[in-house]
Amino acid sequence: MKNRVTPSTVEHSLDHDSFIVSKTDTRGCITYANRTFMHIAGYSERELLGQQHNILRHPDMPRAVFQLLWDTIKQGQECFAFVKNLSKDGSFYWVFANINPNYDDKREVCGYFSVRRMPNQEALNVIEPIYREMLTAEQAAGTRDAVAAGTRILQSRLKEGNIEYEPFILGLQG
Ligand SMILES: Cc1cc2nc3c(=O)[nH]c(=O)nc-3n(C[C@H](O)[C@H](O)[C@H](O)COP(=O)(O)O)c2cc1C
Repeated sequence: MKNRVTPSTVEHSLDHDSFIVSKTDTRGCITYANRTFMHIAGYSERELLGQQHNILRHPDMPRAVFQLLWDTIKQGQECFAFVKNLSKDGSFYWVFANINPNYDDKREVCGYFSVRRMPNQEALNVIEPIYREMLTAEQAAGTRDAVAAGTRILQSRLKEGNIEYEPFILGLQG
């Protein structure tokens, strides 16, 4: 289900000691959400279970970030990302997300889980302009070439800082 919520400028913040947890199957359909998730996103468990995680997708998020996320976890690696999420009432909340593969007893990936916490505000001051630039490039490129255009911007910012994605993100969160 694609998101039809109209975004507003109302922001909600996570508490220092709150964690948003969810699990998905291999296609990204939600199989578990904790209470904090339901509370901040404004959805009931029934509304969330079985839905694609893009139910939270905020239009300000560049596509290239999600491509990087999926490419990383599909290789069996964990991924870190700053994500702006859209709640059911149109408000938004930023998270620092860690997404991991879940393995079955045959050591095969049987799904993914994510734990998200309060992002460092200074990190968002760095990330937001980069995401804005990525989004502008993606919109100018059109749907087919959007991911490539967004990725090019991200890579050039990383190159300028002479740093790779993961150390950059982890360094920002501190
Ligand atoms: C475990 C897990 C957690 C995810 N959490 C989020 C999330 O909090 N917000 C979000 O927009 N996408 C999240 N995604 C990515 C979505 O599956 C999806 O790729 C993204 O929302 C972009 O949607 P789209 O591909 O339909 O444009 C998550 C994916 C996984 C596997």
